[in-house]
Amino acid sequence: MHPTWDDIEQHISACDHCPLGRTRHLPVMGRGSREAQIMLIAEAPGSQEDLEGLPFVGRSGKILDELLDACSLTREEIYITNIIKCHPPGNRDPKETEKEACLPYLKYETFLLKPKIIVCLGRVAAQRIISPDFKITRQHGTWTYRKDCALTAIYHPSAILRDPSKFEVTKADLLEIVRKRDEL
Ligand code: URA
Repeated sequence: MHPTWDDIEQHISACDHCPLGRTRHLPVMGRGSREAQIMLIAEAPGSQEDLEGLPFVGRSGKILDELLDACSLTREEIYITNIIKCHPPGNRDPKETEKEACLPYLKYETFLLKPKIIVCLGRVAAQRIISPDFKITRQHGTWTYRKDCALTAIYHPSAILRDPSKFEVTKADLLEIVRKRDEL
């Protein structure tokens, strides 16, 4: 039997597949429309997300909202989640073992959502989801096709925070994603 959204949420809340479940405050499930055609996948929750139990509520979330707004998209039209559902202490990069342990949750979310388009936010997500040698600087905005789904990657909002000149190129990528959604 396939899990429901509630099953996934309950499993994540009680998860002990890796040590991150013992140090996080709140698990961070995906958020948005469960009928969305566009699924955004980032790396791992930050410290604000850890406190609120919601994805992209901190500084990166503000940039993400600005990007969505610039493309006339709302969070209600998309589904946004992370590979890892628990905040790694000190914001360190998630370990491979932690990513592997958490991956079944992402697979169930993807199975239930059945997105037309998957957008990886940043290099880490793109390398895990699209291809291990994905180069975000050269390949952002390019498309890969898998079964009934088109996959692409854009800069992570935190990269835009560090280098605001990446905002316009990311906005252009996102506008193309919206165009693709309307065409598929
Ligand atoms: N950065 C991420 O990669 N994910 C979040 O949920 C927030 C910040």
